[in-house]
Amino acid sequence: MPTTLVGTMVNGKINYAAIAWVGIMESDMITIAVNKGHYSNNGIKEHKTFSVNIPSVRLARETDYCGLVSGKNVDKSGVFRSFFGELKTVPLIEECPVGMACKLADTFDFPQHDVFVGEIHEIFCDDSCLTNGKPDFAKIDPLLFILSGRGYWKLGERVADAFKVGKELRKTSE
Ligand SMILES: Cc1cc2nc3c(=O)[nH]c(=O)nc-3n(C[C@H](O)[C@H](O)[C@H](O)COP(=O)(O)O)c2cc1C
Repeated sequence: MPTTLVGTMVNGKINYAAIAWVGIMESDMITIAVNKGHYSNNGIKEHKTFSVNIPSVRLARETDYCGLVSGKNVDKSGVFRSFFGELKTVPLIEECPVGMACKLADTFDFPQHDVFVGEIHEIFCDDSCLTNGKPDFAKIDPLLFILSGRGYWKLGERVADAFKVGKELRKTSE
């Protein structure tokens, strides 16, 4: 799964947490599953906003740090350089090639996690990671996380054309 960094404002301070349990609900809506004990939840509930940033492989150390320590005990506001878009309670990370500023659309109360549904309000992508105006994942080089074995990985090779390679199995009647 992709590792993300969720940005929040908690008690007037910027906070970042590593969050890998991320889903896509609609083309402009994403979910993050955040353990109820985390500090980030307070900021999301207070301001009804958060950011989802995609770190590249070279940010493994900083990303892992944001997943090891809690804003309850440590000030993580200086780990990255932050900027703000239109939403003034949504810190985004300069060093991350992609950042999404979200408005809280809904919250699902699961036993251990708050699942926050965010409507993407703005997307930022580094010019250096675009090809023909579109995000290029080879350039973004996202940091991937596998829970089993607790390892960080990087993207492998492109395998085939999606929505195309399967056509080879289609029968003429389909
Ligand atoms: C690679 C990685 C992925 C993580 N993914 C999640 C996740 O999806 N949900 C979650 O609740 N915690 C996740 N964590 C743990 C939190 O990032 C960690 O508990 C962090 O200290 C919470 O920060 P906060 O208390 O400042 O919000 C992850 C940690 C790592 C290292």
